[in-house]
Amino acid sequence: MEFIICKEPKRHLDLLLLADPYEPMIDRYLPQSIVITAVEQGRTVGLVAYCQVGKDMWEIKNLAVEEAWQKKGVGQALVQQVKDRLPAGSELLVGTAQTSSGNLIFYEKCGFVYDHTIHGFFTDFYPDPIWEGEEQCVDMIVLRQTIGSEMEGRDFYHEN
Ligand SMILES: CC(C)(COP(=O)(O)OP(=O)(O)OC[C@H]1O[C@@H](n2cnc3c(N)ncnc32)[C@H](O)[C@@H]1OP(=O)(O)O)[C@@H](O)C(=O)NCCC(=O)NCCS
Repeated sequence: MEFIICKEPKRHLDLLLLADPYEPMIDRYLPQSIVITAVEQGRTVGLVAYCQVGKDMWEIKNLAVEEAWQKKGVGQALVQQVKDRLPAGSELLVGTAQTSSGNLIFYEKCGFVYDHTIHGFFTDFYPDPIWEGEEQCVDMIVLRQTIGSEMEGRDFYHEN
């Protein structure tokens, strides 16, 4: 699988909408975002969009893997692509709906920990209710990780 910086991410609107169902919201962050696609035999099967949101602070704005390719390690590899491109010590954030327990497990496996909750994010900023099964997406759970922290942990272990 190849990972390629994508210059025309709107060509992959179907993937972008899989993670974020409201196109005007996508249009707010996409121009400032770096987009990396996961390409298998010429076919784009996943993507991640991330951008800088503060000094030494970055945020994953969109992450999606085509349904047939999910649970094969592509999502984790895309997160790793982002981490590999950020300077050590940077903070990486990601937000997901409070209803998305599967996504929360996924992000924890990628090294994120809970940071804070933005109450009412999905009801305040999206025109139509978003449902996940029978539960409405209301709050956004924001997770965070410090880039290079696993490595620092290992160094600390070896020094002691
Ligand atoms: C969320 C998403 C990007 C995960 O990508 P993926 O390629 O399926 O995930 P991976 O195969 O890399 O999974 C990595 C680990 O997380 C676990 N995981 C992934 N999705 C999971 C889920 N829904 N529930 C529980 N665990 C999950 C995998 O089992 C794997 O665990 P392991 O390392 O112990 O084997 C993908 O499911 C997706 O595109 N979903 C639709 C769009 C979306 O919701 N995007 C996120 C918006 S916040």
